[in-house]
Amino acid sequence: MLILGIETSCDETGISLIEEKNFKIKIISNIVASQIKLHAKYGGVYPTLAKREHQKNLPIVLKKAIKGIKTSKIDLIGVVNEPGLDPCLWQGINFAKNLAKKLKKPLVPINHIKAHIFINFLENPKFLFDKKNFPAIALIVSGGHTQLILIKNLKKLLLLGETRDDAAGECLDKVARLLGLGYPGGPEIEKLAKEFKEKKFKIKMPRPMIYHRNYDFSFSGLKTAVLYDFRERKEKERKSKEYIIEMAKEVQQAIIDVLILKTFKATKEFRVKTVILGGGVVANETLRNQFQERMKKEFPNSCLFLPKKEFCTDNGLMVAFSTWLKWKVKKF
Ligand code: KG4
Ligand code: ZN
Repeated sequence: MLILGIETSCDETGISLIEEKNFKIKIISNIVASQIKLHAKYGGVYPTLAKREHQKNLPIVLKKAIKGIKTSKIDLIGVVNEPGLDPCLWQGINFAKNLAKKLKKPLVPINHIKAHIFINFLENPKFLFDKKNFPAIALIVSGGHTQLILIKNLKKLLLLGETRDDAAGECLDKVARLLGLGYPGGPEIEKLAKEFKEKKFKIKMPRPMIYHRNYDFSFSGLKTAVLYDFRERKEKERKSKEYIIEMAKEVQQAIIDVLILKTFKATKEFRVKTVILGGGVVANETLRNQFQERMKKEFPNSCLFLPKKEFCTDNGLMVAFSTWLKWKVKKF
């Protein structure tokens, strides 16, 4: 069957077309029109501007995504309906509604967080239908969310904890802005952190809520700690490349430490068989490596899933795949 997925929850207009045959998924297209350049000057996403861009981009992206395909051949259409920026979501929902009506095809509402989780199984969807792989735990870290979710089975997802203030990606974006780096901040911070050689300024940032007994997160205090450190430094010091590099490295590590500790705590408590990561921040190589190394050591009998880097940030493919999955699970 042919499935079309539409994503407009934030600042990417994404549409993808996939074909499923006997649990094998073929990607026909995965087009993303990014608004990064547009929002860069605001240091974050500007919702009304994003909405206007989605409106402009949706027909263009659709045309590219279905190039050479007869629209009557599409069997299912999925669209993200939550969570996200309301004006952006509605742009996608209305577009998808009109398309579904025109093509007389069913429209499936898709949860953006679940789409980030399940994209991990694009190449092996059967894994999800095997009871012995559960319970699983999913950590979703993006610009809008930081959530730990216990997955008892495909239909039973339980939110264990989430951020009480800023999401991890949002913290990286805000810190990057403070340090005079570009938007989005995550990749900029990662790039600089890789240049780190020696601890010259002895910067030590907090690991917020790391030893709290719950699964909640908080990253706004980390951002404030960066601000205080930055303000207290002499002008020459804080403007130096070495300071920015050391701070980038320390903030990135503070976030990774908290994410790993909380995820592993849940892995132990719930005797988890499968650990799943997703969301834009998971594109971070240091985070990926540290999760992989420590999983091998501390939970050698559990599986760790990381999406391909290009599928970590928002895209239509994760929506198309989740649309198929939702349809399949209901049919079972
Ligand atoms: O999942 P996503 O594309 O959008 C939301 O649903 O929010 O995530 C975007 C977030 C941004 O905060 C961005 O700075 C962060 O993901 N990000 C990264 C990297 N690439 C994107 N953070 C750290 N390292 C990266 N390489
Ligand atoms: Zn996302």
